[in-house]
Amino acid sequence: MSVIHTILTGDRPTGPLHLGHYAGSLRSRIALQGEHRQTLLIADLQALTDNAGRPAHVATNVLEVALDYLAVGIDTDRTTIALQSQLPALADLATLYMNLVTVARLERNPTVKAEIEQRGFARDIPAGFLCYPVSQAADITAFRATLVPVGDDQVPMIEQTNEIVRRVNRLANADVLPECEALLSRTPRLPGVDGRKASKSAGNAIALGATPDEITAAVNTMYTDPGHVRASDPGRVEGNVVFAYLDAFDADAMAVAELKARYRHGGLGDMVLKRRLIDLLEHHIAPIRAQRAALAQDLGYVRTIIERGTAIARGITDETAGEVRRRAFSLDPIAAA
Ligand code: TRP
Repeated sequence: MSVIHTILTGDRPTGPLHLGHYAGSLRSRIALQGEHRQTLLIADLQALTDNAGRPAHVATNVLEVALDYLAVGIDTDRTTIALQSQLPALADLATLYMNLVTVARLERNPTVKAEIEQRGFARDIPAGFLCYPVSQAADITAFRATLVPVGDDQVPMIEQTNEIVRRVNRLANADVLPECEALLSRTPRLPGVDGRKASKSAGNAIALGATPDEITAAVNTMYTDPGHVRASDPGRVEGNVVFAYLDAFDADAMAVAELKARYRHGGLGDMVLKRRLIDLLEHHIAPIRAQRAALAQDLGYVRTIIERGTAIARGITDETAGEVRRRAFSLDPIAAA
């Protein structure tokens, strides 16, 4: 890839990040920061759209997410870490974009639909939640991002963003904003230890700072194949969480393929596999855990990183919002007077 992209991606600070984030996105962000301009947005405003009752919980997790970024190897000389709520241009753009999107379109977003179901909002959907794809479009366009590394659940957000971009450009009669492209992770979504979707709140994920005991306990509860009772029984690899994690983290793909063949045939016990996975995860997590613990001793430094990144982001996002206001919405401070 010789084109230099402007990359924006982000995370809601609703808890510390976990191995699913690591396999699905953090690893690729570390690789991308070498070649592209990258900003990571800690999306505290978006987190409030379904955590309105617990603002302190969101606030606490801003530093946790920043700690995770730094501990896994996000390099702040190459990547800007910014805090969404401290960038007023994002709210400004979201308000303007709200006029370009219908309620029917918002209700059709399949990811939002699924999330409404999961959260049991039924008829009490917070308006901010229904509209968060518009706010996310504001995030992406404010940085003029052209590449957005996300999971496949976020593809509808990219589509909605590009619809908004085209409307803005039509209003301005010029290419004020670039369209963006999703960069999908190669690794399939990592399941939680119980085989369901991994989430911070469901408690089925392995945190990046997990202790050796936590790793062991989590792996030991991993869902395998309930039909695989004795080691000699043939076992199923599909849907087997241990194999999903081995696929994501074991660099020796040949060895994993052999284990799968033996497991399918019968003769390989769950405990042998789980022990291999425990060692492997400890090997991956140990340096992250150590780095995280060291950084946690100096939260002042972590705060400074966020402040510095947010100041840089403020310049960029204010500039974009000013241009969109003027060119697409005729909101000129003098014309208004
Ligand atoms: N919606 C994303 C998530 O839930 C977080 C996010 C907020 C984001 N703003 C973004 C992702 C902008 C990409 C670009 O993980």
